[in-house]
Amino acid sequence: MQSFIIKGGVPLHGQVQISGAKNAALPIMAATLLTDEPCTIRRVPNVSDVRFMCKILASLGAEVEFHGDTVRVRAKKINPVCDYDLVRQMRGSICVMGPLLGRLHRATVSLPGGCVIGARPINLHLKGFEALGADVKIEGGYVKASAKRLLGTEIFLGGRAGSTVLGTANVMMAATLAEGVTVIESAACEPEVVDLANFLNAMGAKITGAGSPTITIVGVKQLHGVEYEIIPDRIEAATYAIAAAATNGEVTITGARPDHMHAVLDKLNEAGVRIERKGAVLTVKPHGELRAVDVTTLPYAGFPTDVQAQMMALLTLAPGISIITERIFESRFMHVSELARLGADIELEGPSAIVKGGKPLSGAPVMASDLRASAALVIAGLAAKGTTQVNRIYHIDRGYENIDTKLRRLGARIQRIEVEGP
Ligand code: EPZ
Repeated sequence: MQSFIIKGGVPLHGQVQISGAKNAALPIMAATLLTDEPCTIRRVPNVSDVRFMCKILASLGAEVEFHGDTVRVRAKKINPVCDYDLVRQMRGSICVMGPLLGRLHRATVSLPGGCVIGARPINLHLKGFEALGADVKIEGGYVKASAKRLLGTEIFLGGRAGSTVLGTANVMMAATLAEGVTVIESAACEPEVVDLANFLNAMGAKITGAGSPTITIVGVKQLHGVEYEIIPDRIEAATYAIAAAATNGEVTITGARPDHMHAVLDKLNEAGVRIERKGAVLTVKPHGELRAVDVTTLPYAGFPTDVQAQMMALLTLAPGISIITERIFESRFMHVSELARLGADIELEGPSAIVKGGKPLSGAPVMASDLRASAALVIAGLAAKGTTQVNRIYHIDRGYENIDTKLRRLGARIQRIEVEGP
């Protein structure tokens, strides 16, 4: 088991290059199952979720190579079964279901189960597959879907919290090889969905409307291999911007897509963070006093739920009351009790966290619980006086490429150590 030891209180300074987006890489890697021709995907982040997706594709029979930032996949002959032991370790693997159904007209994938941030149901994914003509049943913890033919249709994918990102991805992928036209209403508008649509169109799919709530897919007979570079990670970029602000440093962020970050940049500006933008380059500069602000997470283009925890860490430093409301997941506040261990004053009221900010944080041992909560604890540790030990950092390695190396290059005093025990 590994931990980070962070000696806080040092303003970050320098330049950080943003990696490819994990949440674009995973569905795009799954989409390579839609063709028997070789696909090459560049700017893939070397994070454990991606390495795990390579394992999953290989378990389905695909040839997979991952060198540097490039993944090569050739799914010449594949089998339709993705087993529990794999899916339970990474629920994002559910996005192989749409391609398997599209290419083989059958798919058996373990139910992903929930995680610390919520139940993570897949009812909308299954609704979409059934609408395309698949017979879907759940047996022994597996979802089994099969179809004689997939027929294009109109599908409404809106759910309890608005749209579904991987549900939109799954249905869009299956629909690329269906007969006729599929229209997805209340589709997710995230940039990662747009990136997947661009990848599929480069394979010969006919998709329009991605990025809007209505996506139209005209089915084609087959898809071909492709070379493609994925978008940079807007959540990673937001995380470094917030880390810079939390330490009152000066950090230049290169390789990002600021046009994917409007909600975050706007909220940081409102909170008193000074950010300069020159084209695609963002520079966070030292600020005066931070200001308390209210944040509500929403589907894109609203404030992303994947930046909620990091923003909370920052707002513990802003004098006054900040109210953070989580509208996407039912229990995405695991970081609150750990931030409290660093001296933060936060009360939970239903879907909201009331942050009484302004007191300096002081270092302590804390426990990571999920990917973005871990990032929040690292940010808080960088800002806190004294030493913070963040345990179970395998959570953070799922979605941040070399975060300790990148932070050390920015002047952070952070070390990765081996520790005994759970
Ligand atoms: C994707 O998860 C991301 N993961 C998540 O990022 C992100 O937080 C989430 O989208 C929301 O933006 C990947 O892309 C791999 P959803 P996804 O389906 O697609 C409900 C991270 O930290 N829902 O958009 O699984 C669901 O319960 C991760 O990088 C249904 O009710 O999320 C949730 O409340 C965490 N029925 C809401 O919709 C369904 O069938 C949004 O979930 C599907 C979802």
